[in-house]
Amino acid sequence: MTFGLEAVVKREVQALGFEVERVVNGKVEFTATPQDIPTVNLWLRSADRVRLKLGEFSAVTFNELFEETKTLPWEDWITEDGKFTVTGKSLKSTLGSVRACQSIVKKAVVERLKTACHTDWFTESGPEFTIQVSILKDIATLTIDTSGSGLHKRGYRALTGEAPLKETLAAGLVQLSYWNKGRLLIDPMCGSGTILIEAAMIARNMAPGLHRSFASEKWPAIGKRVWRRARRAARDAIRTDLNLQIYGYDIDEQSIIASKTNAENAGVGDDIIFQQKDIRNLWIDQQYGIIISNFPYGLKMSDFQELNQLYISINKTFKKKKGWSLYVLTADKMFPKYFKRAWPDRSRKLYNGAIEVEYYQYYGERPR
Ligand SMILES: C[S@@+](CC[C@H](N)C(=O)[O-])C[C@H]1O[C@@H](n2cnc3c(N)ncnc32)[C@H](O)[C@@H]1O
Repeated sequence: MTFGLEAVVKREVQALGFEVERVVNGKVEFTATPQDIPTVNLWLRSADRVRLKLGEFSAVTFNELFEETKTLPWEDWITEDGKFTVTGKSLKSTLGSVRACQSIVKKAVVERLKTACHTDWFTESGPEFTIQVSILKDIATLTIDTSGSGLHKRGYRALTGEAPLKETLAAGLVQLSYWNKGRLLIDPMCGSGTILIEAAMIARNMAPGLHRSFASEKWPAIGKRVWRRARRAARDAIRTDLNLQIYGYDIDEQSIIASKTNAENAGVGDDIIFQQKDIRNLWIDQQYGIIISNFPYGLKMSDFQELNQLYISINKTFKKKKGWSLYVLTADKMFPKYFKRAWPDRSRKLYNGAIEVEYYQYYGERPR
């Protein structure tokens, strides 16, 4: 998952009723049954993907890697007609050639399947299985990807504006804030609307994966019936009895068009009001509310001047609005110096793709 979101994903896993065993190296590990795989894929909001761990062992020679891989029960998951590929990574390990590790693992799995399926011939015309061999400090972990495309691909974002956030990160920002469905929420520079759409889906208890498919949907080891049941349960869980107060603005007309389309696609089109507006004309008369926003950030001198204008305007708007909490994701490390109301109550390092960003959190007074 995105570096910095481990605690959020851990909470999500616990909320689904699982006991978290370990949080390491961007992974949250827990035990679940094959029947739980659909639920976990449908519901996790901030995780990148769900991998099924087949085994973990020490491997400093190719022979060890081969033999240990062969002892794992691949036939419990991979079908005789299964199409499988092996991806890999290696860090601080004796077995440094990822290519070689991938091909050893592939050979070992084929060997295992030959014996288990009593055949030498695999058509590879059936469901897809992506195995990953990940070696860290000589410990190899073998997993199969149950998600397919990354979980950020919810299926609702047909159009994007400039520098869109990954949906998983946007959901993380909302979950790291103190926003809840009873409170007013604004993203004054909403781009394609991702933060607000994720917020509305959280409020409505909408499973983020409801509008997409997953690799493990075709796996006989789970079965279509289990998937159908999990999808039905997710549909039944949607709350329809809410009136949300969520607003999104952007200076760019195309972004507003994109936001509206995306929100419609996500099924939250009626929950968010989008309007084309320059943040410099933002007028707020409510005493309490929450801003969650991903500020633009550029490296050219002209961008700095433009940013300065933005900072002056938000200072003016929020200086006296003590009841407003602000959550700002930006790559500009100088932001706390420019925003005058207070020093951030919290700040958290995150990654927006490869860019290191900071999530500055300013808590407002609680509504009376
Ligand atoms: C980093 S993008 C936001 C991306 C968004 N979080 C998403 O997921 O699509 C910043 C946005 O700020 C908008 N913007 C820039 N200057 C603005 C201004 N003066 N008023 C309102 N929006 C502005 C840009 O049009 C852009 O869409």
